[in-house]
Amino acid sequence: MTQRKILITSALPYANGPIHLGHLLEYIQTDIWSRFQKARGHQCYYVCADDAHGTPIMLKAQQLGLTPEQMIAQTSVEHQADFKDFLIGFDNYHSTHSDENRAFASEIYQKLDDGGYIKRKTISQLFDPEKQMFLPDRFVKGDCPKCGAVDQNGDSCDACGATYSPTELKNPRSVVSGATPVLKDSEHYFFDLPAFEQMLQDWTRGGSLQSEMANKLQEWFKEGLQQWDISRDAPYFGFEIPGAPGKFFYVWLDAPIGYLASFKNLCDKTGINFDDFWKLDSDAEVYHFIGKDIIYFHSLFWPAMLDGAGYRKPSSVFAHGFVTVNGAKMSKSRGTFIKARTYLDNLNPEYLRYYFASKLTSGIVDLDLNLDDFSQKVNADLVGKVVNIASRCASFISKKFDSALSADIAEPELLADFVAQGESIAAAFEQREYARAIRDIMALADKANQYIDAKAPWVLAKDESKQLETHQVCSMGINLFRVLMHYLKPVLPAMAAEVEAFLNIELRWDNYQTALRSHKINTFKPLMQRVDPVKVQAMVDASKENLQAAEPAKTTSKTAVKADAAVTTADAAAFEPLAPMIQFDDFAKLDLRVARIVSAEHVEGADKLVKLQLDLGFESRQVFAGIKSAYDPADLVGRLTVMVANLAPRKMRFGMSEGMVMAAGPGGSDIFLLTPDDGATPGMQVK
Ligand code: MSP
Ligand code: ZN
Repeated sequence: MTQRKILITSALPYANGPIHLGHLLEYIQTDIWSRFQKARGHQCYYVCADDAHGTPIMLKAQQLGLTPEQMIAQTSVEHQADFKDFLIGFDNYHSTHSDENRAFASEIYQKLDDGGYIKRKTISQLFDPEKQMFLPDRFVKGDCPKCGAVDQNGDSCDACGATYSPTELKNPRSVVSGATPVLKDSEHYFFDLPAFEQMLQDWTRGGSLQSEMANKLQEWFKEGLQQWDISRDAPYFGFEIPGAPGKFFYVWLDAPIGYLASFKNLCDKTGINFDDFWKLDSDAEVYHFIGKDIIYFHSLFWPAMLDGAGYRKPSSVFAHGFVTVNGAKMSKSRGTFIKARTYLDNLNPEYLRYYFASKLTSGIVDLDLNLDDFSQKVNADLVGKVVNIASRCASFISKKFDSALSADIAEPELLADFVAQGESIAAAFEQREYARAIRDIMALADKANQYIDAKAPWVLAKDESKQLETHQVCSMGINLFRVLMHYLKPVLPAMAAEVEAFLNIELRWDNYQTALRSHKINTFKPLMQRVDPVKVQAMVDASKENLQAAEPAKTTSKTAVKADAAVTTADAAAFEPLAPMIQFDDFAKLDLRVARIVSAEHVEGADKLVKLQLDLGFESRQVFAGIKSAYDPADLVGRLTVMVANLAPRKMRFGMSEGMVMAAGPGGSDIFLLTPDDGATPGMQVK
C-alpha cells in the first residue's frame, strides 16, 4: 500500500461559546477518520483552531468586562479540555488570532489585490450612533416590514417567514445599545468571486464532492455568484487590512486561512514540510470536514481565495447534517442544548462516539440523538455484545489456564471470516460510511456470541474431560473479540487502549490477521458500564439549570421569547447582550403596577401575541403580550400580573398597546408572567 499524505481539518469553533453536542458530531466524525487513516499507516495530520474574530466576540468580551484577547484565551483552554476529554486527537490546535494567521491573511489578500480580485465600493449600512459602530444584520431588531410582528431579527421574520434587509425593518433598534440606527456610508472591500466561476465549475465537476453539495453549487452558479464583502470598519476584533487603516478583514476571510495557520504552526514545531501539502502541484490530500450551514464559505469563497493566491485547492470538502436531540432542534428550555462539559460530568464520552458513529453516513443528513435510543444502543451493542464476548471467556483463561491462550485455533474458518471482512470495513471507514462499518462489526459480534452460546464454556468447564475444549473455546472467543476491537479502535480509542493492556498486544492493521496462540493475557477488568438512565436524566436537568445560572435576568417577554432562537447557527445566534447600564433615576421613571387580567384573547393572524385587558383599579388598559407560546389565554383570566403602567401607548398592527406586562424565563413554553403574591391589589405600586 502506498503511503498517502493527508491533511484533515474540522471547522474552527467560535471562541464565544462552549462546545456542545452539535459541534461534537463533527469533531467525532473527523477524529474517527483521522485515527483510521493514521492506523492504516498514512502520513496524516488533523489540525483545528479557535475562530477568534468578529463582532459577536468583541461584544461578548465587552459584556464580560474582558479584553477580547483575555476572553479567547479562556475559551481556548475550555475548548481544548472538552476536546481532549472527548478523545479528539488533534495534531495541533491553534487560533485564528495568531501571528501565522495574520501573515497568511495579509499575504493572500495582497496576492488577491495584485491579481485585481479586490474591488472597492462605497455602501450604506445601519450604524449605531451611540456605540459608534456599524451593525451586522443580526444586531438590528425591529418590526417585520411585511406582517408587523414586533422584535424580529434584521434578516428575517420568525412570525411570517419573510426575509428582508435590515434597513427595511420598522422601528429598528440596535441590539447593542437600544439606539435607533442611522444609515451611514463607508467604503468596503469586495472579493471578486464571479471571476472564479469557471474555475469553480471545473473544481465542482472534478467528481470528488458529495453529490448533494455539487447540486447545491449548480444552483448557486445558476443564481449567479456575487462580490463578497470582506472588510469591516472599526471597532472590530480582527486583523487590520494592510494599507487600509480602520478597516479589518471580515472574520470569514481569515477563518479558513486559520487552517493554513494551524498547520504552519505544526510544521514549525515538528519539521513537516508545509509546501508539500499546500503548493500548487502538491500530491497531498487536503480535506475539510464541515457542517451543512457553512458549505458556501468552503466550496466557493475558500477554493477561490486559494486559487487566486496561488495555493492548491482542497481535495474535497465533506459536509454533515445537523444534530437534533429527541427529534427537535437542541433547546435550552428542554435541556437538550447539552454542552460538552455537562455531558462529560455525567456520561462516558465513548458512548457518544459510538452512537454518532453508528448513525453517520457520508451524506448531508441530519442526525437525531434520541436519548432513549442512545442508551439502548450503547447497552445492547457495546456492553451486551462486544464486552460480553470477553467477559464470558476471560476468567476461565486466567483461572484455569494460567492466563495463556490455547496453542490451537478451534475454528479457523470462523476466525478467517472475521479477518476477511477487514478490508470491506476499512472501505466503509474510508468512505465515511461509519454506520455501515458498525453494522458489519456488530453482525460479527452476534456471530461471536452465537459461537460462545453454542459451546457454553461455563458448562464445559465443569467437566474435567473437556478442559482442552474449554481452553480452545475461550481462546477462540478472545481471538474474535480482538479482531472486533481492532475494527472499533478509531471509534473507541480509550476502550481499545484498555483492551490492548488486557490482551497484551497492540491492535494494528498489520497484525490483526495473525491469531494469538499460546499468548499470555492480563487480568480482565470491566471495560464499559451500562448507560445509567439516572445520569442521562441528570445531564438533561443540568442543561436546564445551566441556562438559569447562565442567563439570569431576562426581564421582558421581548427577550424571553428569543432565547431559543437559532442556538445552532453561527455568529450572533444566542447572543443577547446586556442593555447599557442605566442610572437609578432612569429606573425610577418606570411605574410598575399590579394589574388584574380581566380578559385574554388570541389575536387573529399573530403567532405569538395574546391580547390582554388589564384592570389597574383606577383604569383599564389593553396590552399585547408575546406570551402565547407559554400560556393558554383562558388560564390567565383573573390572575394578577405586574405591568409597566406608564409606557407610552404604541400602535401595533392589531391595535393600540397601552403598557407592557413583565415576564421572565428561558423562552419557548417556559415564560413566566411575573405574578405578584397574594395580598396585592390592582393599582398597587411595585417597589
Ligand atoms: N467559526 C465557524 C467555522 C469557521 S471554519 C473556517 C463556525 N463555527 S461554529 O462554532 O458555529 O460551528 C463549528 C462547526 O460545528 C460547524 O461546522 C458547524 O456546522 C458545526 N455545528 C454547529 N452546530 C451543529 C449542530 N447542531 N449539528 C452539527 N453540527 C453543528 O461555523
Ligand atoms: Zn413578518
